[in-house]
Amino acid sequence: MIGVFDSGIGGLTLLHEIIRHLPNEQYCYYADTKNVPYSTKSEDQIKEYVENAVNYFVQRKAKTIVLACNTATNVCIEDLRAKLTIPIIAIQPAVKVAVDNDKSVINSQRKNILVCATPITLRSDRFQRLLDSLDADRIVERMALPELVKLAEMEEFGKSAEDYIKETLLQIDISKFSSIVLGCTHFTYFEPIFSKLAPQLSLFDGNEGTARHLKNILSKLNLISLKRGTSFSIEYIESGKPTENLERFERYNTRIEQLNKTFRIRKTFIKY
Ligand code: DGL
Repeated sequence: MIGVFDSGIGGLTLLHEIIRHLPNEQYCYYADTKNVPYSTKSEDQIKEYVENAVNYFVQRKAKTIVLACNTATNVCIEDLRAKLTIPIIAIQPAVKVAVDNDKSVINSQRKNILVCATPITLRSDRFQRLLDSLDADRIVERMALPELVKLAEMEEFGKSAEDYIKETLLQIDISKFSSIVLGCTHFTYFEPIFSKLAPQLSLFDGNEGTARHLKNILSKLNLISLKRGTSFSIEYIESGKPTENLERFERYNTRIEQLNKTFRIRKTFIKY
């Protein structure tokens, strides 16, 4: 079984991408519904929540764990990797993809990549190290959109979300940017709104890159399930217990399928 973890329903957007790459696996999706959103919690609290989820997967003998939560990755990935023997794959904002997509941006004198994420991700050392490694600090503008996590959890994908995104984008001169990186898995649900409000900008998230990375790792370790045809299963766990609201997950799954048909985010491959 592959364990996929997020604070809530954001990581389902990554799970769909993973299933496209690995269609014959058993998945266990763990949403920490009791504690979402993480961006309002302390780092110690987040570490404790993520450890609970990881222990759950370890007890269930997961062959690998995917942290489908940028915020959790930025707070605890190093600690987890030091403790665990099974591989942990983690998502991170796809800044490298945005830089690779348009090499000219790196020589620019102004900020031209907008990274939207939770406040914890944006102020984390790990994110700063990512920017430094790409020499991209000069060209990246950070924008925290914590309300989007709550709106996604409440299935509010309409006017209130659009008003909130519009209001926040109005604080900067968006016409000067070339791309937007969605550095929170909850934000992918709002891709149609970002596309509508900033149609000239390229949009990126880390989902495809993370899915490919997971496939490479499992392939190297000979852990890919090789059944014929396509048959996967998903089990849904909420804060340690099987969900009592499967219909809710199904509504999100339907939404992601529609998104993927109409609005597939362009080039999202992260090179590790
Ligand atoms: N999906 C999480 C992320 O990618 C949201 C974090 C939160 O719960 O605030 O960062």
